[in-house]
Amino acid sequence: MSSRSNVKNLARALSRPSVNSRQGFLRRLHGQPQPPKPPSDSSAAGANGKTHYLWAAAGGLALASLLYNVSPLESSITEHSSDAAPVSVAGDPHRKLIAYDEVLRHNTKTDCWVIINGEVYDVTKFVEIHPGGVNAILKMAGKDATKAFMPIHPPDALSTLPPEYHEEVRIRQAREALPHPEAALNLDEIEDLAKGLLTRVAYAYYASAGDDEYTFRENSYAFKRYWFRPRVMNRVSKVTTSTTFMGYPVSLPVFICPAALARLGHPEGEVNIVQAAAKEGVAQGLSINSSCSLDEIQEAKTSDQTLFFQIYLDRNRKNSENLLRRIEKDGYKGIILTVDSAVPGKRERDMRAKGDFQAPATGGANTNGTKGVAQAISGYQDPDITWDDVAWMRSITKLPLMIKGIQSVEDVEKAYKNGVKAVVLSNHGGRSLDFSPPPIDVLYELRQRRPDLLNNSKFEVYIDGGVRRGTDVLKALCLGAKGVGLGRPILYGNTGWGEDGVRRVLQIIREEVETGMRLLGVTRVEDLKPEMVRYMGHDPAPRR
Ligand code: HEM
Ligand SMILES: Cc1cc2nc3c(=O)[nH]c(=O)nc-3n(C[C@H](O)[C@H](O)[C@H](O)COP(=O)(O)O)c2cc1C
Repeated sequence: MSSRSNVKNLARALSRPSVNSRQGFLRRLHGQPQPPKPPSDSSAAGANGKTHYLWAAAGGLALASLLYNVSPLESSITEHSSDAAPVSVAGDPHRKLIAYDEVLRHNTKTDCWVIINGEVYDVTKFVEIHPGGVNAILKMAGKDATKAFMPIHPPDALSTLPPEYHEEVRIRQAREALPHPEAALNLDEIEDLAKGLLTRVAYAYYASAGDDEYTFRENSYAFKRYWFRPRVMNRVSKVTTSTTFMGYPVSLPVFICPAALARLGHPEGEVNIVQAAAKEGVAQGLSINSSCSLDEIQEAKTSDQTLFFQIYLDRNRKNSENLLRRIEKDGYKGIILTVDSAVPGKRERDMRAKGDFQAPATGGANTNGTKGVAQAISGYQDPDITWDDVAWMRSITKLPLMIKGIQSVEDVEKAYKNGVKAVVLSNHGGRSLDFSPPPIDVLYELRQRRPDLLNNSKFEVYIDGGVRRGTDVLKALCLGAKGVGLGRPILYGNTGWGEDGVRRVLQIIREEVETGMRLLGVTRVEDLKPEMVRYMGHDPAPRR
């Protein structure tokens, strides 16, 4: 089998729709491989006391893994080489050569490599479940097994291994090829890099959105219908992006949105994000569905950083009450109540990838395993919350409250009437109701219908969803938003480089905001005004 046809087989195996047919060969003989059990130590408890999901990202990896593809020519070049270090193949940084001497050394049951058709396979984890028996492979350990393998295996034997087998390789290679964070110039590039580093399940969870994902796409796209009316010759060498978030000083009118399961992307999870936020001086909402425990966050955060806690109300209000009291005691600066997900949206990418995810063993999770990650972690959420719950929350905690997930001018008015200090216009990054309007358009409507709510010292309006450029931030600020949230880009930065990646995301946005302000002719955030932006009733010219 040539490298090229092997790659084709991998692609075919990964695109097969049914888990059963994909794993059929192995299943028939030995049953389905089981993913590892979730960790039971206390550090595994999520911010809401649930088990975290780190193990899910690694689930199902207990199989052989293809190390490096080498064509027969390349393997013969290396056969007599004494240089054991893998080297890049010229012109393709993702392909590696591996020295023959190196293969020879991996010749035991606990460290077993074989060569088949010029490709090197690490079969250590596969040996025990090899349908032809352990010894059949052990006899070939550290050797070229092509002659023994070819006559008795169907041509697609290797490609019938489940996708994790290939995924592990893909992720390892992407990790090896990952450039320094400074090499990423914009947030889309960071997403592209992160995609290669995430498991299929994790990327599906992060990227997924409701139904046909119209709202997800429109969130970003809608920004492109607002154009600037720049002013020039305004002495702009010195600019400052400093502002406040719910009264707390911050260095940037950009906050980090609450987002679940940061550990799917990086082992330190939300700890990275909290530490990056402190160092960059930005506000953050920490998700109730975080994969780090409250204790871990407590250790990571600084006492003066602007960290809010985001909750969904629990069907059992006593649980919410206990949590709110703990949050206040832990020194969080405020509460974000998310209201746009009475039930999770129908996120089909997530649902399709579900086969590899097992719901956590503890907590109120839906454990039927049929609906994807989002459903698995949301079982405790109360779909019956009303505005009366705002009063109830105020009776429990004195912390300032923001309502996140407002999608209409009418509900902004209601929030204001109910004495809420701030709202986030948000549709959960398109993950809830498809065809919910883009937040920038709701903001524009609010500007037209209720400008008094945007120039109000007792009330603040934030937005999130689809923000990928400094100019997006500036447009929202011109229209009257106090600040703008970033969701997925932060998760992707964390996936790539942990804390450094999150900081890189914030630095990119900071630089873009500063440049945009200068070119717009303003030097302070409070000088951004509605007359600096106008709505264009048509789509922009396509990108080159
Ligand atoms: C990756 C390296 C592999 C090596 C070096 C290898 C090697 C071998 C050898 C030497 C035998 C003959 C055993 C004997 O005569 O007693 C054998 C049998 C077998 N192998 Fe593999 N194998 C590999 C991968 C696989 C894979 C990926 C599958 C299936 C997914 C597979 C399925 C089987 C089956 C079903 C038999 C028994 C065939 C029979 O009895 O007719 N092998 N293997
Ligand atoms: C993977 C993921 C998990 C999320 N988890 C939460 C959550 O736990 N609580 C919440 O209020 N919002 C959550 N959100 C929504 C974000 O807070 C935010 O509204 C959205 O991501 C903004 O859109 P953007 O990703 O386009 O920036 C999540 C979003 C993503 C992508």
